[in-house]
Amino acid sequence: MNNENSRGQWGSNFGFLMAAVGSAVGLGNIWGFPYKMGANGGFAFLIVYLAMVTFVGFATMLGELALGRKTGLGVIGTYKVLYKKFAWVGWLGFLSGFLILGFYSVLGGYTLRYALGFLMEIFSKGAGFGGMGSGEFFGSFIINGGANVMFHAIFMGLTIVIVMGGISGGIEKFTKIAMPALLVMLLIVIIRSLTLEGASTGVAFMFAPNFAAFSEIGFMKVLKTAAGQMFFSLSLGMGCMITYGSYLSKSENLEKNALIIPIADTIFALLAGLAVMPAVGAFMSQGVEGISFGAGPGLLFVTLHQVFSVGMGGFIGNLFGFVFYFLVFIAAVTSSISLLEVCTAFFIDRNVSKGVKANRKMITIITGLVVFAVGVPVCLDGLGSGVAGGATIDIPAVMFGMSEVRVAFDCWLDFYDMIAEGVFMPLGAILMSVMIGWILKTDIIKSEVEEGGIKMKAYAFWDICFKFIVPIGILFVLMGQLDDFFGLGIF
Ligand code: TRP
Repeated sequence: MNNENSRGQWGSNFGFLMAAVGSAVGLGNIWGFPYKMGANGGFAFLIVYLAMVTFVGFATMLGELALGRKTGLGVIGTYKVLYKKFAWVGWLGFLSGFLILGFYSVLGGYTLRYALGFLMEIFSKGAGFGGMGSGEFFGSFIINGGANVMFHAIFMGLTIVIVMGGISGGIEKFTKIAMPALLVMLLIVIIRSLTLEGASTGVAFMFAPNFAAFSEIGFMKVLKTAAGQMFFSLSLGMGCMITYGSYLSKSENLEKNALIIPIADTIFALLAGLAVMPAVGAFMSQGVEGISFGAGPGLLFVTLHQVFSVGMGGFIGNLFGFVFYFLVFIAAVTSSISLLEVCTAFFIDRNVSKGVKANRKMITIITGLVVFAVGVPVCLDGLGSGVAGGATIDIPAVMFGMSEVRVAFDCWLDFYDMIAEGVFMPLGAILMSVMIGWILKTDIIKSEVEEGGIKMKAYAFWDICFKFIVPIGILFVLMGQLDDFFGLGIF
């Protein structure tokens, strides 16, 4: 199928799965999940997270995929066709795409910078990180606006090139190779991590039953963090899965796909935990300074850098550092292409409905450039540290809206994150649940799932989850986010 003249379609169900799992697996899994688990009591957080995936994630995933395939349109088109009054919900998703990708690409640029840094260190000591300590390097890098813009540009450029290639010729082609490669690289790092002396401290932190966090941190706090993490990690609430579902053939089994994506995403999150926590535990128990499970958002860029550069050290440390950050970079790219696709799909749909050439290449370049521009302020404000002044290292704490030390509107990343992840996405997801579950009735999902002659097996379970548990779960995300951003202290 020529993608220049039509919307395009996935070449195979496997290709679709790689793309969808690629969208889900990203910074949220490799960065967010380990640090949130670390800061929220390890095992206790894991259990709550798994419950959220089972009762909220699966239902929302199936809802989004079915809606997309039903209409064959992106997020704006889908809501317009389904229920005119709710068309604006689609716009929330569309705008969220620009905002999330705006900062996601800047962070993706960081991971590229770190991968390159370790690569250069292999050849010449001090070449990659200038002989600086982990915290010092991070502090100096984030206030280097020029470098940030450059890596953001490279990251966005790569995203644009892949999305330009179309659904089967770009996104599917890239993710079909990237996702298996990601798994292999992750397993290599896990083996290294697990064989370090003292690694069992980290494994125990993840898997030894311990619910102390519920009383120490508070059950509600753990719950809202797990709920927000689940939505972000599964790429739900902004129409990403609606868009990806719209390129899926009617003969594919939606229910099975909606089950596989969350399971794969969760496995990747656990694997990322197994790559990070045992290494952190090992060097913590060996007494390397500045390393702890509860390091918060700095876990990926400061603590892990320390693990590779000081804990392991030498050639091996640099090599594993390179492999690890390159892996995070690839995972971030497979997610960013799904975010850009949400934005480009709208314009492509519009052209297709007008009967003119879809013009994917042109649309992708222009949309990508707008996203790049949206991200530039994030590059230039040193994450709120004051570009001219010195850096404070509690800065990474403001990322992803999940920290107690967060200062609202401290920086652009914070601001975008607050609008998109804090308001638009939970709002979009709750309205989808109300619209489908209560106004249009869940039969429309069931009939779409059964379109290809496949019986929907889990309808009763899904129906209860979608109508009742999803809106309640989202309410927690929404309240938790508002609480975070405005420091209301509800939780
Ligand atoms: N899920 C990705 C991650 O874990 C990020 C992502 C991609 C996303 N598409 C999304 C988040 C849509 C929210 C909405 O890193």
